[in-house]
Amino acid sequence: MSFEDLWPGLLPVGRARGGGYRRFSWTEADRECRAWFAQEAVRRGLTLERDRNGNLVAWWDTSADGDSGAPGDEGRADDGRRPDLLDDVGGGRRDAVLTGSHLDSVPDGGAYDGPLGVVSALAAIDLMRERGVTPSRPLGVAVFTEEEGARFGVACLGSRLMTGAIDPDRARGLRDGDGVSWADAIAAEGYDPGAIGPDPAFLGRVGCFVELHVEQGRVLDAPVGVGSAIWPHGRWRFDFTGQGNHAGTTLLGDRRDPMLPFARTVLAAREAAERYDAVATMGKVRVTPNGVNAIPSEVRAWLDTRAPDDAAVRATVAAIAAVAEEAAGWHGVDVGLSEESYTEVVDFHVDLRDRLVKTLGGAPVLPTGAGHDAGILSAHVPTAMLFVRNPTGVSHAPEEYAEPADCRAGAEALAAVLTDLACR
Ligand code: GLV
Ligand code: MN
Ligand code: MN
Repeated sequence: MSFEDLWPGLLPVGRARGGGYRRFSWTEADRECRAWFAQEAVRRGLTLERDRNGNLVAWWDTSADGDSGAPGDEGRADDGRRPDLLDDVGGGRRDAVLTGSHLDSVPDGGAYDGPLGVVSALAAIDLMRERGVTPSRPLGVAVFTEEEGARFGVACLGSRLMTGAIDPDRARGLRDGDGVSWADAIAAEGYDPGAIGPDPAFLGRVGCFVELHVEQGRVLDAPVGVGSAIWPHGRWRFDFTGQGNHAGTTLLGDRRDPMLPFARTVLAAREAAERYDAVATMGKVRVTPNGVNAIPSEVRAWLDTRAPDDAAVRATVAAIAAVAEEAAGWHGVDVGLSEESYTEVVDFHVDLRDRLVKTLGGAPVLPTGAGHDAGILSAHVPTAMLFVRNPTGVSHAPEEYAEPADCRAGAEALAAVLTDLACR
């Protein structure tokens, strides 16, 4: 099927009234996305694997001996092939080529962030088949779970669990806004919460990972580009605790209002970001009890900070934290700060990146400030990214967009890259 034939199948799933998407992990919309993926895998005769961590992989099995390419299968012995990038890394055992992305969304997110990579991967397989291309290596399409961290707070949770980048105990205890734990949420879907965690058997099979993604800014001025790096980024949580009280009867001097240091902290985030050439965002806040005529007892607020280098991120967060503490002191409020996740700078595998650029006849190379499962996997396997142009430059919002012609070009580019990587 062409990209255009595939894309509408997923479009209505999880779309909210304002046009944005709410595809949160382990909700009905997420189940529908997974069912759609399973159906497309079956339609293509791909072998669907469900790993221990909630991630899905559909494998194109072309080997004569029925090796599914799935985690746990024995790797093929040296077959006399010319050593290349994949063999160099794993001595011939790490021979699978993995592509894919994620299907979950941020609250009221766009249609393309994640799904574009999954749909393009399936379209690329169809293009390869139409052209009579048969991979000589296992080729997998992955759907990573909870990439956005929109429900449980830690981005790229599925790939972090798989690679050991998060402690399984911590993951089990992550809670959504209603207090449901990750352990309970996955148990309800039939997973064993005790079995989550690093999956070296899976990673040991993967020779390289290529994630196609919509570009999330306006930098890319060609249909398709190749990723060079991901800015270091992280999430921090401020807990401002004061004294809930009456809005009419409590004199200003008697108040311990956590909203005041919170407000100062929001402004400090902007100031610090400007000072250190970073970006800082406070886009989520939870006020308790959230009443018009009550001084809040608690304000919980999240900070997202990113910059081209780790030092700038750390300096930005330290400056914001200092202001938060000072302002909390002025208002008799307690403040706690915790780091919920951090991803260091990612420089994608240079040989793989160059190989993609060459395969695509000299595509532009660009870094990104957005986080991706590719960034998590890159610490373990050679990893690269393809970006598809976004004319609005908007992402994590309903206006996120890519032209159909650019989406087609993305699927073509991915097919060319997978053909190059998986067919030699
Ligand atoms: C994910 O898209 C992120 O960059 O937060
Ligand atoms: Mn995103
Ligand atoms: Mn994404």
